[in-house]
Amino acid sequence: MSEATNIHPIFNSLLSREKKEELLKQNGIVLWMTGLSGSGKSTLARALEFALNDLGYFTMLLDGDNLRTGVNSNLGFSEEDRMENVRRSAEVSKLFASAGIVTICSLISPTEEIREAAQDIIGKEDFYQVHIDCPFEVCAERDVKGLYKKALAGEIKNFTGLDSPFDIPANPFVRIPTDKQSLEESLKQLVEAVLPVIKLS
Ligand code: PPS
Repeated sequence: MSEATNIHPIFNSLLSREKKEELLKQNGIVLWMTGLSGSGKSTLARALEFALNDLGYFTMLLDGDNLRTGVNSNLGFSEEDRMENVRRSAEVSKLFASAGIVTICSLISPTEEIREAAQDIIGKEDFYQVHIDCPFEVCAERDVKGLYKKALAGEIKNFTGLDSPFDIPANPFVRIPTDKQSLEESLKQLVEAVLPVIKLS
């Protein structure tokens, strides 16, 4: 909810969204990648961006850790802060998508409520939820950043999947089981799902 008054947003840009999508030869959408820490979100998001760029698509990658060094740098990991983190990230994603850009947003976004808020901001027609599916135990075993060790030792509070909830998405656009397939297989599954959506008909 805006707290500012006397605000007059401009809605008609010189080029319409459709015109921009025509120029870029693609549909602007948001691929919203959700999953536990260490599930493979950032790895797959980066691989997907490379793959789409190779095919000539124009993309923007917004990653939780990166956003938290800038636009979201004043936020922590309470439920309230995570909601605000997702709200801002969704607003930014929406701007990119409305310029015809294939936007890959990779955030834990742990609860149904939080993901629904993101979808409400972005709009149902542009929001494609990708669940990077990997059990807590496997993420803890991988522990790429050493966060699980710290969290299990009680050194990190509100850790997702431990003392902070993660709701498994009920009906994502695509679910990628990263514990059951290689990175190459996961990327192939993702690219095959995404291409029909971003191709301009
Ligand atoms: S959220 O829930 O969507 O607001 O989280 P997000 O912005 O994606 O940030 C997740 C990254 O923050 C690091 N980190 C933590 N994750 C979960 N719980 C706690 N308490 C926590 N503290 C720090 C961690 O590096 C996450 O990155 P990923 O890429 O998910 O491993």
